[in-house]
Amino acid sequence: MSLLKIARMGHPVLTRVAAAVEDPGAPEIRRLVADMIETMIDAPGVGLAAPQVHVPLRLFVFHLPAGRADGHTVPPSVVINPVLDFYDDEQVLRWEGCLSIPGLRAAVPRRVRIRYMGVDCEGRPVGGEVDGFHANVVQHEYDHLDGILYPMRVTDFSKFGFSEELARYPEPQAA
Ligand code: NI
Repeated sequence: MSLLKIARMGHPVLTRVAAAVEDPGAPEIRRLVADMIETMIDAPGVGLAAPQVHVPLRLFVFHLPAGRADGHTVPPSVVINPVLDFYDDEQVLRWEGCLSIPGLRAAVPRRVRIRYMGVDCEGRPVGGEVDGFHANVVQHEYDHLDGILYPMRVTDFSKFGFSEELARYPEPQAA
């Protein structure tokens, strides 16, 4: 396994629509997934999409480590060729950062709950109905596959800034 270079905002690979993965079990896909998980944990981050490591394919990895407020944990996992279902319109502002936009954070409107489906490298179905931080991470990573970075979704630019400054002047609702 090896650490991969992460593309930063401004690199064209981040604003391109990624292509479907034809063979989720192919050796090069398994190697990519293993390297992406290692890179995500090293960064550290909770999610990483293939375009962020200069590979324009529709897959992302994520994990929900212990210690989050809602107590919901997920081990490092891959979602290949995901489909999102916005069956519920309710939205909420959630604070997000991105490994491709280091040092910055913003409050981004996201669906509270979603349904998503994809497969892993064995072709087994993954996903389900999720809410909270899990739903937020999946929406953020899925956006990367369509060339969308979170600043493109910001509606209130007074809630967009450097993480260090935002931490210095926290708002009551910033979580
Ligand atoms: Ni990101």
